Amino acid sequence: MRLSRFFLPTLKEVPAEAKIASHQLMLRAGMIRQSSAGIYSWLPLGFRVLKKIEQIVREEQDATGFQEMLMPTIQPADLWRESGRYDDYGKEMLRITDRHNRDMLYGPTNEELITDIFRRSVHSYKDLPTLLYHIQWKFRDEVRPRFGIMRGREFLMKDSYSFDLDFESARRSYNKMFVAYLRTFARMGLKAIPMRADTGPIGGDLSHEFIVLADTGESEVFCDAALLEIDVLAETVDYEDDLEPLIERWTGPYAAVDDKHDPADFEARVPEDRRIKGRGIEVGQVFYFGSKYSKSMGASVAGANGEEVDVEMGSYGIGVSRLVGAIVEASHDDGGIIWPASVAPFDIGLLNLKAGDAACDKAAQDLYESLRIAGLDVLLDDTSERAGAKFATMDLIGLPKQVVIGPRGLKAGVVEIKDRATGKRFELSPEAALSYLTA
Ligand SMILES: Nc1ncnc2c1ncn2[C@@H]1O[C@H](COP(=O)(O)OP(=O)(O)O)[C@@H](O)[C@H]1O
Ligand SMILES: [Mg+2]
Repeated sequence: MRLSRFFLPTLKEVPAEAKIASHQLMLRAGMIRQSSAGIYSWLPLGFRVLKKIEQIVREEQDATGFQEMLMPTIQPADLWRESGRYDDYGKEMLRITDRHNRDMLYGPTNEELITDIFRRSVHSYKDLPTLLYHIQWKFRDEVRPRFGIMRGREFLMKDSYSFDLDFESARRSYNKMFVAYLRTFARMGLKAIPMRADTGPIGGDLSHEFIVLADTGESEVFCDAALLEIDVLAETVDYEDDLEPLIERWTGPYAAVDDKHDPADFEARVPEDRRIKGRGIEVGQVFYFGSKYSKSMGASVAGANGEEVDVEMGSYGIGVSRLVGAIVEASHDDGGIIWPASVAPFDIGLLNLKAGDAACDKAAQDLYESLRIAGLDVLLDDTSERAGAKFATMDLIGLPKQVVIGPRGLKAGVVEIKDRATGKRFELSPEAALSYLTA
């Protein structure tokens, strides 16, 4: 992509309405624009990151045996009357009336809709477990939308649902998802801490929140430092044999205090030099809630002996759009965003410091083509901005690697490579730069 053609409306000033770094940087980097309170458009740069994150979430769900589908944003109110949540949900639910005066709503979550689909199609224990998910926009009319897309009213959520025959297999689905979440966040360069949680309006028995450490976060975290040393991506997890011990390590007595509001208990259990206390951002939550919805909505199957069994359910959410903000919050410096390679909008920023100079243009064009042929996503700054402005824009938008082509370097036969995260710079010939970047 050529920067001269790319829609990237960056801002020089820090927008006054933005209180935290991620909100400021996402606005300044031209990733998002607000259309009304808590409702945002995703501009091309932001949209690329959103799609990268969505894809990592999708791959880990697929690998865990959940199947992707897509439910609508608009739901009939009657289903929510069956579960009893139409009244319970209160003002957070955006209620709509269609032309025939039917009560509809913009879905804040999908337990009712998925349970309805399940009960109309699955009738035997032989078809369990049924594991489904979708990635769809949700609407919650938050009292205080704030921090940009971090607490929006419209937001993109991955929500998964499991239907099992009994507690044991439901717990198994829960545990599988638990590991999938650890892997998902780790792949994005995040350390997400699982904490026991209240079940809130979803209701039910067992729940964990996954929290990314950040000073501006809205949640309180207590955590044993030993937890953060487990490398979930390095462990080959065999669900049959390894899963239980792994989960035990995360949900056992030192994982997080059972009651997150009881710091004394935490201090009693975790030695001082391993205590992490702080604030964090909730990026996901998992729930096991048994037969709460299957009972009220009549989702039962015939068991092995022909008896009717209410299915055991779980639901599992990830805030896909919130993750964009959480990653920026966790990874930035004074110059701007520092994207982890796995979610970066482009792999490489290629700066032509003197567009219009024949040698610079040719060197930039050649390297651009070669990198693209090698499968890398490159943003080529081919504009006639001055060098300082080009450096500042590249730092702001945070691409992991920068390659700088200028007349002086070219005369000496070199281009400069800069690593955004470490700030380290070094010079290589264009050919060596190509092998380095494609290695
Ligand atoms: N208003 C919001 N804006 C952005 N993301 C949200 C919002 N509300 C929830 N999420 C994300 O969706 C995930 C699942 O939602 P859920 O746990 O049901 O929400 P809540 O914790 O607000 O009850 C949350 O962990 C969070 O990452
Ligand atoms: Mg939650």
